[in-house]
Amino acid sequence: MDSAPIGIFDSGLGGLTVARSVIDKLPHENIMYVGDTANTPYGPKPVATVRKMALSVMDELASRGVKMLVIACNTATAAALRDARERYEVDAGIPVVEVIQPAARKAVAATRNRKVGIIATEATVLSGAYRDALAAVPDLEIVQQACPEFVSFVERGITTGPELLEVARSYLEPVKASGVDTLILGCTHYPLLTGVISYLMGDNVTLVSSAESTANDVYAQLTKRDLLRTDREQPPKYEFFGTGSLDSFAPLARRFLGPIVGEVERMEVTN
Ligand code: DGL
Repeated sequence: MDSAPIGIFDSGLGGLTVARSVIDKLPHENIMYVGDTANTPYGPKPVATVRKMALSVMDELASRGVKMLVIACNTATAAALRDARERYEVDAGIPVVEVIQPAARKAVAATRNRKVGIIATEATVLSGAYRDALAAVPDLEIVQQACPEFVSFVERGITTGPELLEVARSYLEPVKASGVDTLILGCTHYPLLTGVISYLMGDNVTLVSSAESTANDVYAQLTKRDLLRTDREQPPKYEFFGTGSLDSFAPLARRFLGPIVGEVERMEVTN
């Protein structure tokens, strides 16, 4: 069981930011990454639709024998975490790690003026998942902003340039004006846009990405459950899949994660 892969999934490329941190912290683990490219983007879709799609991908990963599921997508976490915990963790003994709680915890630790901004997809903002995650923290002011165009820029490989800058300015200026000192990148695609986001938010605003804290949770869960891979003889295996077209997904996955992304294969998922 300990050599089974960690299953990591997102609607597309964003989860690679989480995969990067997991690989950095746990370099001996086998990884099976899936981008649900047949259904990307999740952000504009109704919560019930995202839930169904996310559970279909996780069913497939579970049937391929992963030892842990990492929902490397805020939108899927907001839509499907409760069901996933029941279906995989309780019923099948596969631990589920998500991205919202880790980012919320890190933001609370980082803020000095108790004003935290959250940028995310429309579905994540509408779900209120971050509000719920931060509800118990006293005297915290929250400013939320949906950034519907950001995912499409990342999925097209556009991370710089005037068009992106203009769109980013329209999303981020009101957030900056509200005086937040900490900004949660509440979508796993957004760390790939930190160039433009930090340019507009300035040095005094701390950007919080869930990637690193989520990888810490993966580390903690594997350690506690005695599931760390013990084989140090064989190098780890990294497998990458897309559920839809791989034309742009494969080269961009290689650009964002580097040469460890070898061949990208098609994964059939029945929705
Ligand atoms: N990366 C996903 C997230 O963290 C969303 C991308 C999408 O809209 O598909 O929310």
